[in-house]
Amino acid sequence: MHDFLKALPKAELHLHIEGSLEPELMFALAERNGIALPYNSIEAVRAAYDFNDLQSFLDLYYQGMSVLQTPEDFYDLTMAYLRRAHQDGVVHVDMHFDPQGHLVRGISLAVVMEGLTSAQVDADKELGVSSALIMAFLRDRPATEAMEVLESAQPWLSHISAVGLDSAEQGNPPSRFTEVFRRAKDLGLERVAHAGEEGPADYIREALDLLDVSRIDHGVRCLEDPALVARLRDEQTVLTVCPLSNVRLKVVADMADHPLPKLLEAGLNITLNSDDPAYFGGGMLANYQACADAFGWNRDTFRTLATNALQAAYMADSRRQQLLAQVTACN
Ligand code: ADE
Ligand code: ZN
Repeated sequence: MHDFLKALPKAELHLHIEGSLEPELMFALAERNGIALPYNSIEAVRAAYDFNDLQSFLDLYYQGMSVLQTPEDFYDLTMAYLRRAHQDGVVHVDMHFDPQGHLVRGISLAVVMEGLTSAQVDADKELGVSSALIMAFLRDRPATEAMEVLESAQPWLSHISAVGLDSAEQGNPPSRFTEVFRRAKDLGLERVAHAGEEGPADYIREALDLLDVSRIDHGVRCLEDPALVARLRDEQTVLTVCPLSNVRLKVVADMADHPLPKLLEAGLNITLNSDDPAYFGGGMLANYQACADAFGWNRDTFRTLATNALQAAYMADSRRQQLLAQVTACN
């Protein structure tokens, strides 16, 4: 099964590029930029990744990104991740990035975009891995700030496929960002939002109704609302589920307890993703393998999941058709 899962052409729809920062690169960039880290060793960093909930993770995630200062840093981060993804048999990544996590530290959007986009070009050329960008807004910061970021991103709109909504979910409902997402739609951008990770099922409904999103990131708590499940099934809204993330952030107790089998049984449009692979114990292949181990799914199920992701990915249709044919032929 492991060889099959590795060979399966996988698209990743939910990956925070800043969450792909491995401790080794964190140390290297800290040294390059003369930044002091509150850790003595790489082992000490890994030992700190023992989370109780989303906020305890976010605290370290924002601290970790402090080493990202120059376009070269963002390039190295992105290239390193796309190389690892390529090793996992990933053919395409829709990457979230968090401009406000950098702007608050005095790092401009131009610096971030220069690094990310040059890595995208090189990964395409050198690895054959395609990618797209999702510019995410931090929902625990003011909506006015998100709007400013959106307006300031206009020079780079041709490099950005969608806007997203992430960070601390509870108490920060999608409704606060209605105008920002309406403006993003007017600017021709697709829309996705984290909802129903730690927050209630109602936030999923708000994201659909008020933000007009085409995908829900996580969405696992939809099961608490049968009418919502029926709607998600009827509309075949894509859920970007991140199983190892859910275990590490204690959204679920363990893999055996994960609602993925229930979500599939309900007829929902499910995809598997890694979220923040450097923090949650593994990338795409590890997430696929964890599902194989926990649920005993057969190859047909994994081909369906890989197909769902390719159909929803922000990629050229000609490439999509080629990759879909490769999934069907993968045995
Ligand atoms: N930012 C990075 N990872 C996230 C997650 N899993 N949920 C919300 N915000 C995030
Ligand atoms: Zn996420």
